[in-house]
Amino acid sequence: MNTNVGLLEALAPQAPDALLALIGMYAADFRPGKIDVGVGVYKTATGTTPVFGAVKAAERLLLDEQSTKAYLGPEGNIGFFTSLTNLVFGVRDFQSRLTGLQTPGGTGALRLAAELIALAKPGARILVGTPTWPNHMSILTTTGLEIVNYRYFDAATQTLCFDKLMSALDEAEHGDVVLLQGSCHNPVGIDLSEAQWLLVAKRMAERGLLPLLDLAYQGLGSGLDADALGTRIVFDYVGEALLAYSCDKNFGLYRERTGALFALSRNAAAASITQSNLLMLARANWSMPPDHGAAAVRLILESDALTLQWRTELEMMQQRIVEVRNCLADLDPWFEPFRNQQGMFSMLPLNPDQVRVLREQHAVYMAGSGRVNLAGLTRQSAALFATAIAAVR
Ligand code: LMR
Repeated sequence: MNTNVGLLEALAPQAPDALLALIGMYAADFRPGKIDVGVGVYKTATGTTPVFGAVKAAERLLLDEQSTKAYLGPEGNIGFFTSLTNLVFGVRDFQSRLTGLQTPGGTGALRLAAELIALAKPGARILVGTPTWPNHMSILTTTGLEIVNYRYFDAATQTLCFDKLMSALDEAEHGDVVLLQGSCHNPVGIDLSEAQWLLVAKRMAERGLLPLLDLAYQGLGSGLDADALGTRIVFDYVGEALLAYSCDKNFGLYRERTGALFALSRNAAAASITQSNLLMLARANWSMPPDHGAAAVRLILESDALTLQWRTELEMMQQRIVEVRNCLADLDPWFEPFRNQQGMFSMLPLNPDQVRVLREQHAVYMAGSGRVNLAGLTRQSAALFATAIAAVR
């Protein structure tokens, strides 16, 4: 017998990530007409996820012009971060208080944000509306933060529980953190209105709460500026805020892991201390983020022609999602609420058993929560999808 320590045997087994497991299950299904509305990946009307033309063009430039692969610093690609800052915030007057860095995807940004919070206030409480992206919970709990849940959405009535959000803010303690999604809520597709963002921002400022925003779908809801509106309102109102940003969907860079974390501090001196902590944490986690996706985004955002091409492609995606939403609502009034929701996701009031029957008997793959990735549907598959849903509900 090997008498070595056996330390790792103290570990409890972990279930594989249920959402990502759908990728393998779908691939292993050979039934014709199978439908993938599971993992949040955009698909065209022909069911593919091609590389953006603008990204391909930027990659060609990179291949020709990139002269070195030598290290960048823990802040990553500075040109990328600067261009992205303009895209997210436009021109604001808090520029001297805003710092941040490139991260490996939005997940890396969320992880860094959670670690920064834990460093500033170990065991800090964070308000999280349910349902939310399941990985939010894993990221936050493994960083030692205490999660305080409140109900954000009611699936049966397909409505936002705004009063519950406001009560949660009222009951929060000074120094608590509030996780909010900037737009295209994952998994429910319902966002705050401009008036609601103003109320929330004001309340967070009054009560001394730190907003942690997650913006992973800018441009896929109502447009680039409209989708950043809530973020801009919050950053205009509060003294301190964090924003985790992902380029996975709006630049189609999924596996390139391209994102950023923005931090707003109360003054320029505090901003420089915040930044030094972010750089230290980044160095301890991944030393520096992968460059390729960020370098491509930088080339796109620094070129008027490539920016135009990218925006045009993004608008086509956004319009296609709206078409799918309208198509489902036209097919069956049960989907009527989908019309006014936005982004790739909506959530149906289905239980895990109904979701399993959909998968086993109808070859429809969706998250166990009843979340549907509408960008996985086409005009043809929408009809099949509506029929399958009618059969199980
Ligand atoms: C999703 O929610 O489906 C995507 O954000 C993919 C992921 O990493 O979970």
